[in-house]
Amino acid sequence: TSPKTIFSGIQPTGVPHLGNYLGALREWVNLQDNATTDTTLIYSLVDLHAITIRQDPKQLRQWKKESLAMLLAIGLDPNRSIIFHQSDVPAHAELMWILSCQASTGYLGRMTQWKDKTANEKGSSEKLKLGLFSYPVLQAADVLVHRTTHVPVGHDQAQHLEFAREVANGFNHTFETDVLFAPETIISPAKRVMSLTDPVAKMSKSHANPKSRILLTDSEEVIRSKVKAAVTDSIDGITYDPERRPGVSNLFDILYHADPRRNDHDQAELVKDLQGSSMRIFKDRVADTVNAAIKDIRARYEDLVHDEGYLQDVAEQGARKANESAAATLREVKNAVGL
Ligand code: ADP
Ligand code: NA
Repeated sequence: TSPKTIFSGIQPTGVPHLGNYLGALREWVNLQDNATTDTTLIYSLVDLHAITIRQDPKQLRQWKKESLAMLLAIGLDPNRSIIFHQSDVPAHAELMWILSCQASTGYLGRMTQWKDKTANEKGSSEKLKLGLFSYPVLQAADVLVHRTTHVPVGHDQAQHLEFAREVANGFNHTFETDVLFAPETIISPAKRVMSLTDPVAKMSKSHANPKSRILLTDSEEVIRSKVKAAVTDSIDGITYDPERRPGVSNLFDILYHADPRRNDHDQAELVKDLQGSSMRIFKDRVADTVNAAIKDIRARYEDLVHDEGYLQDVAEQGARKANESAAATLREVKNAVGL
């Protein structure tokens, strides 16, 4: 087998939630723990992406620290994975500029996420920022600057990865080089976790209602109260029916995917087991399972987040390794362009 490089990122815009964990972060740890020695793992806190919307500087600095502590708490090991803040590696932004000079504005304008944003702003281009429009180019640079071969992402990011592949192939073609690699996508095996209070929207760091998400730092009591308050419906009994019963079905998905034994049986068995239960017993079981899945993470996080010296060491070590990885690509890219 040929050497692999795996890259993925998360925005440091708050404590990661259960959706981040089940949909992405747990897979990052899996990939690390099952990696052979010829695999390089690179995980970034993408702070340059975070500022595509306005952030309070003090808050952002705090979130960056907390997010780093959380990546360690979930089980990423800085000796096996390169963990770094994106803005500590200037090659990401530099490659982005070079790729921007090749990227088609028409293609970017057709991206679903941009179209959603412009629809909300009702065409007011004063409010729409260039960084938000071009952030898929930065995402492409993030991946390409490390000559990544595999990118684990959620379904929502598949379109941006396709764009990164086009950018890589287009660049190589234009400059008659093979410096950039078009990466493969590893689509996350887990379902999207939906909001607890509005189960037709995804669980998100940015949702206004804090009860809509379970944070990886939530205590057992907080988890229990959020699950208890989760929106369901007035239909009798417990059934799995995502169309008609999005709230109950989301809780089923959470229960199934948070269970460490999920690979030993399928979700249909779980649904059959719980069909006769009351809503109270069902919700208790969800809260217990979620708590069991994250309680060790929570405990490790509490220690790590106060260990400023260690966090700084990890960030510096990650930045050094990521800078090395990116510099080699950037040198060849500049050379290909004539810079
Ligand atoms: P958020 O959308 O909460 O701000 P990010 O955009 O930083 O989170 O996403 C980090 C990772 O978590 C991405 O791989 C994304 O696909 C995944 N992710 C985010 N929200 C969910 C969710 N509700 N369910 C499953 N995966 C999610
Ligand atoms: Na997102």
